[in-house]
Amino acid sequence: MPSLAIVGSQWGDEGKGKIIDYLAGKADMIVRGQGGSNAGHTVVSGGKKYALHLIPSGILNRDSVNIIGNGVAFDPQGFFAELEALARDGAPMGAIFVSDRAHIVFPYHKTLDALYEKERGGEDIGTTLKGIGPCYMDKIERSGLRVCDMLDIDDFRGKLEAQIDRKNRVIERLFGEEPLDKRDITETCVEYARRIRPYVRDTAVMVYEAAKAGKKILFEGAQGALLDIDLGTYPYVTSSHPTSGGFTTGAGVGPGLVSEVLGVTKAYTTRVGKGPFVTELENEIGDKIREIGQEYGATTGRPRRCGWFDGVVARYSARVNNVTGIALTLLDVLGSFDTIEICLRYELNGEKLEHFPARLGDLAACRPVYKTLKGWNADISRVRTWEDLPEETKEYILAVEDAAGVPVKIVSVGPGREQTIVREEVF
Ligand code: GDP
Ligand code: IMO
Ligand code: MG
Repeated sequence: MPSLAIVGSQWGDEGKGKIIDYLAGKADMIVRGQGGSNAGHTVVSGGKKYALHLIPSGILNRDSVNIIGNGVAFDPQGFFAELEALARDGAPMGAIFVSDRAHIVFPYHKTLDALYEKERGGEDIGTTLKGIGPCYMDKIERSGLRVCDMLDIDDFRGKLEAQIDRKNRVIERLFGEEPLDKRDITETCVEYARRIRPYVRDTAVMVYEAAKAGKKILFEGAQGALLDIDLGTYPYVTSSHPTSGGFTTGAGVGPGLVSEVLGVTKAYTTRVGKGPFVTELENEIGDKIREIGQEYGATTGRPRRCGWFDGVVARYSARVNNVTGIALTLLDVLGSFDTIEICLRYELNGEKLEHFPARLGDLAACRPVYKTLKGWNADISRVRTWEDLPEETKEYILAVEDAAGVPVKIVSVGPGREQTIVREEVF
């Protein structure tokens, strides 16, 4: 099993950071291929809690080589801030490199993110305001600047100034706002350009050569399948492909390099930001899950919307990612419920729906059909083997497996590395 993709199966925040950190100890290389500082991956290591955004969650393993691939929206300000915070915390750190082909997030992308959201009024997406959408807009429009552009300082300065002029025209004429300070932004970013040089590589070559040498590569997903720009609940999605297909494009290698796909799946469902959510619990049960699971965003601090496990989402996600195994996380959070529901299917206008629908109107009208299971009413956070789990917990896991159509290979019963039960080795 030389390579493994770790994908979020729901709307993000499934506990990918924890699972990646756990598996990174066995990996030679950890690669991010999409998203950017919008991600918030929490890793608890050596009793300390780290929130990683742009930097891969494998970084806390000293021997790891971490790659920020060409598909990532690279924010130099966030990059250096994160590195400095890790160094300040005395965190053990592996090596880190950034692709020369990654697109750069500039301050004007963040400004535009906020302005576009404001313009959407009540129909805003609830973005993280990290400039992700506007950065990818420039990339697709073919006007973006890439990390390789930072390597020639004079050329970079000229290109950046032209971009700022262009964005200021949009800011002033479209939004009627004050223009951004061209000099200030240029000088700050030129300084980043000077500092970035030692980290820049043709990372696709590094990934390819590592694979050819039989090294173990872990492709780290950010966000989740239902936030995919093509496959998610559009337009309430992010602007990248947080699905296994997106990871290899974003790493600059072919899809054949991914042999296993681990779908990190929460034992219930959460979503932060707006958009449809069929199993949402806007009641005291949802509030209870939020409080026990501490469901508040790692990037924005926003309370996460909570609901029961959705088997339709899990099946959909398994299909579009070719998921070969599930890591079921936050199972300990469900330890004080008499009964627990699992959504097996949706009904739309009294009819059973075969597949996850594209239309938001259909999703809003879908009724979840639940199976009720007995809760286990126990603290399972100290359990370390499958055999020691309560029978009701095992039944719940098997019901999840059945609903998703994929075996549960890892069970997580707490945020710590050691709070992990491996049913089947994945890596
Ligand atoms: P990510 O974005 O997928 O990496 O997930 P986040 O880090 O945003 O959110 C997951 C939260 O759950 C973090 O606070 C983790 O420390 C925590 N966590 C991860 N796995 C478990 C688990 O099995 N049980 C509990 N109680 N917390 C967990
Ligand atoms: P991790 O990697 C959960 C959501 C935002 C918003 C939408 C678009 O921690 O799982 P964006 O800033 O990307 O343009 O926002 O996507 N979103 C996430 N939700 N976890 C994430 O990352 C997310 N990254 C973006 O809340 O609804
Ligand atoms: Mg997160």
